[in-house]
Parts: sequence; structure tokens; C-alpha cells
Amino acid sequence: MSPSDKSETRLGRVLITEAELDARIHDLGQAIARDYAKEGETERPILVGVLQGAFLFMADLIRSIPMDVSTDFISLASYGAGTSPSGVVRLQSDLSVSIERRPVLIVEDIVDTGLTMSYLKRALSARHPRSLRVCVLLDKIERRQVELDVDYIGFTIPNVFVVGYGMDWNGRYRNLPYVAALDDSGGR
Ligand code: IMP
Repeated sequence: MSPSDKSETRLGRVLITEAELDARIHDLGQAIARDYAKEGETERPILVGVLQGAFLFMADLIRSIPMDVSTDFISLASYGAGTSPSGVVRLQSDLSVSIERRPVLIVEDIVDTGLTMSYLKRALSARHPRSLRVCVLLDKIERRQVELDVDYIGFTIPNVFVVGYGMDWNGRYRNLPYVAALDDSGGR
């Protein structure tokens, strides 16, 4: 599929190319490893990927981190169909391991209003991890509704609905290797 299919697919301009994703994710991986090493962290960090959107980012990020890590996934629902947030967050499927006394790094595709991530941070903090950090590929900072600390950010993007590289619109476009805008997303 290419952005030129947009008359049929509503796909808009490419915001972040494959090469830009590669380069930035490489840098994030190096920074994450450096920070944990600097702190003298001896426990293996557990990277918690948020399904489904973060699965491609997670796969590339872990291969960019030059240290021993574990992985697990959690699934949350924060959106219905379409491009508007519902404001309702719910846990769909939980972690398979305990994170008590483990260094935890949440890996998420995008932070928009911040409601999902703030819910997830609260929920995971209550399980007493040794540390809890957040790494997001995309930050739509203009849309933030709650205060939120994010430790690692891939790219700050404008207020457009994006798809590709794991992110979907009504279940479509997750398999694009780049991040693109949807055609009609500028006016929200
Ligand atoms: P928040 O709770 O408003 O921050 O929304 C976070 C979640 O909404 C993300 O994990 C995504 O699943 C979804 N989301 C927000 N913006 C976009 C977008 O532009 N494209 C695809 N999914 C999005």
C-alpha cells in the first residue's frame, strides 16, 4: 500500500518515514540502556508494550536496546471506532508476570489526551514496581488533558490523527511501515 492510494483509503501525507523511525528508535534504545546503566540498575528491566498499537514499536525498540530486558504486554481500551477519544479507559488483558520490585518501562505508540497513559501509570504504580518509566513513539502534546511525565519521546507531532507503524483507524493501516496522517484529520 502507498500513500498514493489515498482516494480509496483516506490515507494522507507521510509524517514520519521508515528511515526516520529507524534512526530515532535506535537513539531511544541507546538512551534507555545508558540511563539504566548509569543508575546502576541490576534487575533486568521489563518492557510493557501496550497492545495493539505499540507492537511494532516494541519489536524495533527492544532490538535497539543493548542490554538484557524482559517483555510483557497489556491491552487497554480507550477508543471506540473512529478518531475521537471516549475518555473511558479499561483493562482488556493484563500482564502475565508480577512487576513488583522490577524496573518497568511502559512502551506506547502515542499519547494524545494522556488519559490512557495516566490510567496505566496509576494502575502499574499500585503494583509496587522498583521504578516506572514511560517511552512513547509519538506525543500529540497539544491535545493533552492531564498532566503526565513521559521519560522518552520519539517524535512530537501536530494534532492530526495518524496511522501506520502499528497504529490503526478502524482496524486498518497498522501494517504501513511509516506513519501517515488520515486525510480528514486536520480539523479536529
Ligand atoms: P489518549 O488516552 O487520548 O492519550 O489516547 C491514547 C490512545 O489512543 C493511544 O494508545 C492510541 O491507541 C489511540 N490514539 C490516539 N491518537 C491516535 C492517533 O492519532 N492514531 C491512532 N491511534 C490514536
